Amino acid sequence: MIKIAPSLLACDFSRLGEEIKKVENAGADLIHIDVMDGHFVPNISIGPPIVKSLRQVTSLEFDVHLMVENPDPYIDAFIDAGADMVSVHAEACCHLDRCLQKIRQRGKKAAVALNPSTPLSVLDWVIGSIDMLLIMTVNPGFGGQKYIEAMTEKVRQARSMIRQNSLKVDIEVDGGIDLNNIAKITEAGANVIVAGSTVYNAPDTAAIIKALKDGAFA
Ligand code: DX5
Ligand code: ZN
Repeated sequence: MIKIAPSLLACDFSRLGEEIKKVENAGADLIHIDVMDGHFVPNISIGPPIVKSLRQVTSLEFDVHLMVENPDPYIDAFIDAGADMVSVHAEACCHLDRCLQKIRQRGKKAAVALNPSTPLSVLDWVIGSIDMLLIMTVNPGFGGQKYIEAMTEKVRQARSMIRQNSLKVDIEVDGGIDLNNIAKITEAGANVIVAGSTVYNAPDTAAIIKALKDGAFA
């Protein structure tokens, strides 16, 4: 089943609560929250206090994407604030396995995020310890960028790696997803789709979420 995770990065930050309700009422499956620290990525976004306030406006799962150097000391704070799934970047963790264990020990879904240039081989010894793999399809830091075409093949290889290991791991894609590329990306094996500008810039939110789901490979 394809899940659509609107990224709050593209919403009106002066009305965060309403912007979440808008996508929830329009059929969103998850809320994707982009956390940026100004070190790992050249941008700064939101932290645990905002996540905690937003937790009160929806029961949808919070998919927290930590674009943070050394995320380990912040994992508990985001889970306490209401994260249901936490993605840490392989490039940002000195002890990736330890971070993943920490998330799972708190009973939450653990995900590894990979920058476009990072090979899938970094997953070799953690693939059995994750619930989701987040494949960045743009270089992280900003919304509204163009999908990097080579990532379709990366998704395909990741899906085959997961199948070969007989695992049940979701593949999330993040960056530049729209109605023109969703079919090939889901056909390659992605099943959790982050969409920021495509969802929040659309005049009819329910229609765009439905169109993304209809446009996905069944
Ligand atoms: C990029 C973020 C994405 C971004 C996606 O660093 O991780 O989640 O908001 O935005 P769009 O869908 O506009 O590319
Ligand atoms: Zn993201």
